[in-house]
Amino acid sequence: MSDHILLSEADAILTIQINRPDKRNALTAKMYATIADALENAATNPKIRVVFITGTTDCFTSGNDVVDFMQNPPPDEHSPVMRFLHNLSTFKKPVVAAVNGPAVGVGTTLLLHCDLIYAAESTVFQAPFVSLGLCPEAASSYLLPTLIGLPKAAEILMLGESFDAQTALSYGLINAVFPDEEYRQLAYAKAKKLAAQPAKGLRLTKHLLRNAHAELVKKTMNEEGEHFKTMLQSPEATEAMSAFLQKRKPDFGQFE
Ligand code: COA
Repeated sequence: MSDHILLSEADAILTIQINRPDKRNALTAKMYATIADALENAATNPKIRVVFITGTTDCFTSGNDVVDFMQNPPPDEHSPVMRFLHNLSTFKKPVVAAVNGPAVGVGTTLLLHCDLIYAAESTVFQAPFVSLGLCPEAASSYLLPTLIGLPKAAEILMLGESFDAQTALSYGLINAVFPDEEYRQLAYAKAKKLAAQPAKGLRLTKHLLRNAHAELVKKTMNEEGEHFKTMLQSPEATEAMSAFLQKRKPDFGQFE
């Protein structure tokens, strides 16, 4: 466990809290590794029946740490981020997410692999991969259109526009919108309810719900990963990320 990822166990639930508020809970390779390990341990720990993922008071996560993106070599299949995505997308026990504030990039796409998703009214979702000179990840280019249809998925992935919790609810991306003061407790109550259900039946139901998509999710994630690697080294990505860190607008006019 690192200070930036807090792990706690209670009520047969493993809570994974993203806890780096000074950087809007941006995820570094080390943080992905901690979550990936926690999921691996939870998978074989009979005392854990449900995983609960959440952020801090103001924020779920601003997505991948942009500095990490720029400093570290492109991720391969064994990198912490890919291990995290693999472990989450193939996790056999139920996962509940409680989100609030910014849920950017992987902060939106990781939710596609959770079973129950509850959002505070303050939640702002965004998948600005193209705006960053990148392409979608986490099998979002397959799962988003499958869930919400191509036009809306294109708006989210191509324009990178943000959308609020009520919109996410109307798209069927989340289960409910709760007041900011209560979202975490109400979501946790759902996790507790799941933890009290027969575990075998839950695991089987999760398998049946997701099995038909499993191969395509894996294939898409790998394909996206290959493109992502290349795109991370593109001049457009360098310009977008430098612009973010320099707090200016990016200028893509120079690139074809
Ligand atoms: N990676 C690294 N640092 C990040 C970050 C990220 N993804 N998101 C925020 N930060 C840092 C900022 O650089 C800033 O650091 P500083 O105080 O040292 O200048 C600090 O966190 C606060 O961010 P700020 O942008 O001032 O907060 P905000 O409340 O105005 O905006 C966001 C919040 C999430 C909308 C905005 O930070 C943002 O757009 N972040 C980038 C999201 C992104 O592109 N993620 C990658 C997706 S693939």
